[in-house]
Amino acid sequence: MIIEPKTRGFICLTAHPTGCEQNVINQIEYVKSKGAIDGAKKVLVIGASTGFGLASRITSAFGCGASTIGVFLEKAPSAGRPASPGWYNSAAFEKHAHEAGLYAKSINGDAFSNEIKQQTIDMIKEDLGQVDLVIYSLASPVRTNPNTGKRHKSVLKPIGDVFSNKTVDFHTGNVSEVSIQPATEDDIANTVEVMGGEDWEMWIDAMREAGVLAEGAETYAYSYIGPKLTEPVYRKGTIGAAKDHLEATAHKITEKLADMGGKAVVSVNKALVTQASSAIPVIPLYISLLYKIMKADGIHEGCIEQIQRLYADRIYSGDMKLDEKGRIRIDDWEMRDDVQAKVDELWAIATTENLSEIGDLKGYSDDFFNLFGFKVDGVDYDADVNEVVEIPSLA
Ligand code: NAD
Ligand code: NA
Repeated sequence: MIIEPKTRGFICLTAHPTGCEQNVINQIEYVKSKGAIDGAKKVLVIGASTGFGLASRITSAFGCGASTIGVFLEKAPSAGRPASPGWYNSAAFEKHAHEAGLYAKSINGDAFSNEIKQQTIDMIKEDLGQVDLVIYSLASPVRTNPNTGKRHKSVLKPIGDVFSNKTVDFHTGNVSEVSIQPATEDDIANTVEVMGGEDWEMWIDAMREAGVLAEGAETYAYSYIGPKLTEPVYRKGTIGAAKDHLEATAHKITEKLADMGGKAVVSVNKALVTQASSAIPVIPLYISLLYKIMKADGIHEGCIEQIQRLYADRIYSGDMKLDEKGRIRIDDWEMRDDVQAKVDELWAIATTENLSEIGDLKGYSDDFFNLFGFKVDGVDYDADVNEVVEIPSLA
């Protein structure tokens, strides 16, 4: 079939297999171009199909030469109905990993459930014995807690006061004022349930108990801080409360792993266009200004540049350069004073009329479509493609 983007608000309902594969190939080529990394050899990535998790899987495999198991929740294709992009990404990843002689298997299901944890543990036991690195990169709007059976929904709201600021509809370029009502106590608790650290800890507990964590195993999860501008809706909002919990959980897991020389660390990553971040009000406007500035300064990075640098210059460099809270800061270039000062300047004057000039609205929009395999250089979108693509290990 011919597959075209079909957008509804912040989501795109279709994805292009060839475009997704080209994205994966581009990421593999980037990692290979940066040279080998002396790192983990057996890696579990939870949330491995898109964004930072996919970049982590690619860097583990093609940077460190690692065997990888990837867990994700993606929609399989059927005749006439394209898969979700993470499905096509994972199919392409496995194909290229296998061609390179690398072990790669995937598990498609709810990572929050006990069943998928057990399935993953069984696969590790059978195929790898143990893993030495666990990347936790889930982003989800909902979680069913397996202990209570309760389904929680996360929200993106400020805490305490109404937050009003500028935002942009990145499809139209229309800059407007949004006001977001503050969260209730329940909203906060639910968001922490979904995006906090409880599930990360449950994974590590279950893996340790099953004996599938190697001596000295490490685990990393991803967080975000961002500028003052977005603080009310991000770091001091409901999602920030969840990130506080995630970061606290790192210390808790490290204590639990101390006897086997293991550790858990949070890496604070840069703001990027992903399916998750497109849905947060105010953030797209911030990102479009940030992109313009960072590209002009030659310091722009996507997920793969971020994660390759995380592995090469932090995790496996011998010095993680932790901040005062024990976090890795790979958001260091985003947070540079000169970069943030320029964002502030542009933010103050941003309007519908000038945004395409002072901001990188096109970069934002292109990145958004790229997530779904569209507008990828070198892909012939007029060509007929088979939408039914199998992930080799799931076939
Ligand atoms: P993403 O949406 O691209 O990836 C989410 C992954 O989680 C996918 O692989 C998806 O399949 C998987 N997933 C979701 N629900 C699942 C479930 N129930 N079971 C199994 N898998 C499931 O998100 P991302 O932007 O790469 O975010 C990953 C992490 O990085 C998050 O913790 C996020 O907060 C953090 N982060 C994001 C940004 C940003 O700007 N995007 C910046 C810093 C940190
Ligand atoms: Na991810």
